[in-house]
Amino acid sequence: MAYQSDRNLALELVRVTEAAALAAWHWVGKGNKNEADGAATEAMRRAFDTVAIDGLVVIGEGEMDEAPMMYIGERVGAGGPAMDIAVDPLEGTTLTAKGGPNALTVIALAEHGNFLHAPDIYMEKIGIGGGLPPDLVHLDAPVAENLRNLAQAKKVDVADIVLCTLDRDRHADIIRATREIGARVMLLPDGDVAAIIATTLPNSGVDIFIGTGGAPEGVLSAAALRCTGGQMQGRLKYDDDAQIVRATSMGIADPHKIFTIEELAGGNVMFAATGVTTGAMLRGVQRAGQGAVTHSIVMRSKSGTVRYIEAHHDFNTKTWGAS
Ligand code: FBP
Repeated sequence: MAYQSDRNLALELVRVTEAAALAAWHWVGKGNKNEADGAATEAMRRAFDTVAIDGLVVIGEGEMDEAPMMYIGERVGAGGPAMDIAVDPLEGTTLTAKGGPNALTVIALAEHGNFLHAPDIYMEKIGIGGGLPPDLVHLDAPVAENLRNLAQAKKVDVADIVLCTLDRDRHADIIRATREIGARVMLLPDGDVAAIIATTLPNSGVDIFIGTGGAPEGVLSAAALRCTGGQMQGRLKYDDDAQIVRATSMGIADPHKIFTIEELAGGNVMFAATGVTTGAMLRGVQRAGQGAVTHSIVMRSKSGTVRYIEAHHDFNTKTWGAS
């Protein structure tokens, strides 16, 4: 991929996440997560038609028989360089339905073969921000050890370390271990992509994410952290043997492996997200006269540039959800 075209492409991506966010915004607080997800997915797919790539969805809404659009294996784009695409047209469907914080529309792009082909199952994840010694934390290390190492590297008291995780019973041990050593826990109802990215953003108030969430969301989070210089590891978690068979059939040779950040999202990665509802990273869509304002983040791993884009959309001059 030529340097110039890849820079332009990163900015094109934001038009796609904006379109999905505007479509999902229509459903914020209306109690219908499936409609919200469907609207975001349809808008995202339509907006991709104008992006100059030959895109292959490798992380999407599911298999062709379970998702009408943006399914794994679907080809999108107007033609151009072959790229693999990881999407979550609406990360935080329940958050959107309930009008809660941190719902996003998300896309990551990389040259072919660079994203882990993660099935739609759970993944154990650990993530921290950039500028820290390599291998500072490990998925298999005790929580207390990870937090103490992080506090030491950040030159802060362990009592000042904030661990973020999803508010789920399965995280009881992580939460207990964190509080036992005097560190703080931030519990989120949903949305671990935003939570993991928050570890890498200055002033987010989040130092580390440890917990189990969706595997596709794990790949998207890794793509973002590749751009910001953060650290992350992930390991697929299986409910039954059928899920192991499924992971293996998707090309995962060792289903119990701890994947490095590069194995989750390698190569030259581009990442874009637009806020649907306001959260730590991005403001949500806001009505403005006969239009709306969107807030997005665009990043590339090659340059490490992080751009925040505020776009003012006039609904009189474009069709609903179009970019
Ligand atoms: P959806 O957008 O599909 O609702 O996902 C929200 C989310 O909270 C993700 O951020 C997270 O990875 C996953 O769900 C956690 O799954 P569960 O709700 O089953 O704990």
